Amino acid sequence: MSTVDTAAETGARPAGAGAAPAFFSAQGLQSYYGESYIVQDVSFEIRKSEIVALLGRNGAGKTSTLRTIARTANPELKHGTITLDGERIDTMKDWQAAQHGVGLVPEDRRIIPGLSVEENLELAQIAEPKGWELQRIYDHFPRLAERRRQEGVTLSGGEQQMLAVARVLARDVKLLLLDEPYEGLAPVIVQEIEKILREIKELGLTTIIVEQNAVAALQLADRALILDMGQIVFDGTAQEVLENVELRHQYLAI
Ligand SMILES: Nc1ncnc2c1ncn2[C@@H]1O[C@H](COP(=O)(O)OP(=O)(O)O)[C@@H](O)[C@H]1O
Ligand SMILES: [Mg+2]
Repeated sequence: MSTVDTAAETGARPAGAGAAPAFFSAQGLQSYYGESYIVQDVSFEIRKSEIVALLGRNGAGKTSTLRTIARTANPELKHGTITLDGERIDTMKDWQAAQHGVGLVPEDRRIIPGLSVEENLELAQIAEPKGWELQRIYDHFPRLAERRRQEGVTLSGGEQQMLAVARVLARDVKLLLLDEPYEGLAPVIVQEIEKILREIKELGLTTIIVEQNAVAALQLADRALILDMGQIVFDGTAQEVLENVELRHQYLAI
């Protein structure tokens, strides 16, 4: 299968000679779970302060792409380069990428049992480089301020999602990776989290959001990427996707 042609047709844009280097760039990513070839020659770039919605059906490879960028061992990146803010991160382990500013909020949130909300945040700040001060976090996440002494795992699903995002901001994050932040949450809580993500957007953080709630993600995002069977089939503005009924129907079922 010619993945090169797919990338060319769909406008994944490798940096041309002389072009200013992108803030984030993924070029020709190929990742595997064992022998299974999952992320199939994925290339895209992100400008600083952009929010990109990474969309596609279940099993399209969204989580695998985020995990590849965050440099988790599984799936294994076998080919391709990733740069963030001028540094190659494809050669890094997950903890090194985190130190360099990659902040993954995984689907299961991974709140640490036995620790209060505040201790979860403090733990994130044990290693340099630190990000937001606690007070700044509480200003943006009033629910977390109210529950700072409560054990993190006893929070509601929505509050745990807020804590997971806040914990990443407590580190010096350059690229925020959100994997289905609205999953399983009541609409009113989704709205609350959207409000926080909009505030973060105003502050100029660069973000990739994966969401089954494509309309909500597109309303937040500047750009959209659509993945299908491990390949990028669309790279354009979020508005283009919202207006393109065929595209939405074919790949997003909305
Ligand atoms: N740990 C794993 N081992 C083997 N295959 C996996 C693993 N995780 C995901 N996959 C496969 O990789 C493909 C992409 O999965 P994933 O990235 O989770 O998709 P999405 O997040 O878009 O739903 C699917 O076919 C899935 O079955
Ligand atoms: Mg997923």
